Amino acid sequence: MRSLNSILELSVAELDELIATAKDIIAHPENYWDKCAHKKLATLFFEPSTRTRLSFEAAMLELGGTVLGFSEAGSSSAAKGESVSDTARMVSCYADIIAMRHPKEGAPYVASRAATIPVINAGDGGHNHPTQTLADILTISRELGRLDNLTIGVCGDLKYGRTVHSLIEAMSRYEGIKFVLISPEELKIPGFIRYNVFENKGIPYTETASLEEAMPQLDVLYMTRIQRERFDDPWEYERLKDSYVLDVEKMKLAKEQMCVLHPLPRVNEISVKVDDDPRAAYFRQALNGKYMRMALILKLLDEAKQNPEKEAIDTTGLEYDRVCHNPKCISQTEQELPQIFRCTDKAADIHRCIYCEQRA
Ligand code: NCD
Repeated sequence: MRSLNSILELSVAELDELIATAKDIIAHPENYWDKCAHKKLATLFFEPSTRTRLSFEAAMLELGGTVLGFSEAGSSSAAKGESVSDTARMVSCYADIIAMRHPKEGAPYVASRAATIPVINAGDGGHNHPTQTLADILTISRELGRLDNLTIGVCGDLKYGRTVHSLIEAMSRYEGIKFVLISPEELKIPGFIRYNVFENKGIPYTETASLEEAMPQLDVLYMTRIQRERFDDPWEYERLKDSYVLDVEKMKLAKEQMCVLHPLPRVNEISVKVDDDPRAAYFRQALNGKYMRMALILKLLDEAKQNPEKEAIDTTGLEYDRVCHNPKCISQTEQELPQIFRCTDKAADIHRCIYCEQRA
């Protein structure tokens, strides 16, 4: 049995297999109507969501299954102080698979260790959002016909934007990918992506603060919202919130064959006038999310049936003598959760918390 915490837990072959299943679902939905009959998906959303929760629920319903769950922490026992582990263990008695969103980084991972059913990370703080990436890669594949040899611009809040982190991890494994990181100085990409992906794997990238300058070279432009809820200082958010607005004028600088993605919700960063441009793919992207979540639910339930045993933790390089100082890490709040680090680069002496991936 497998859960999904990070997009890196799926190989490129598995990503391609999920895309193939999603395309088959699009072509022959009737073949899938009963695939999850009598199966239950629990959606445990401790943070607001529209697309992710509803597309998970629609996905399960279109597979013939049913759904249960909650859409805010206040209506769950978390409001009484229940730990993520206890909630996950208990929900395992009522459902066959869990989709969990949580403001604390690493919370779905902790849930997956306690649950006896697969847990899917539906967004953990400013860390990861692997199922959004599944929606993104199906969209790129359908819009441009390929996932290799692309120049991908990611624009906006690269620091707190969890969708960007998972997208970069996924796309860096395809051939001929280059990234253009477009952000204000204060919202640059965090260390776990900078070192793990760009430096260690030698993936080519450039950084700029100018969207106009980046525009002409891009095959994909991935716009993001400045993540207000992750800022400690509200004035900092006010200062940065309108850093980028993609409008009709800027679209004139882009290739004819590019596509614009956005995980949504948009706040101000794409003018509604861009919506009519055939290159604007963000609403199609939201639909693609449902098909990829259908494919993922099928895969994880099938694997759980074949092998109900939980995957063992990879213990190489684990260390128990360090403390995580990230206030947004699940290890700060979860009852009696051991602090665990992994040495990710011996030569450079880099150690990362196994829950949130911040450095010691
Ligand atoms: C994203 C998220 O929750 O991280 N939304 C989504 O899942 N489609 C992006 C965002 O909230 O800005």
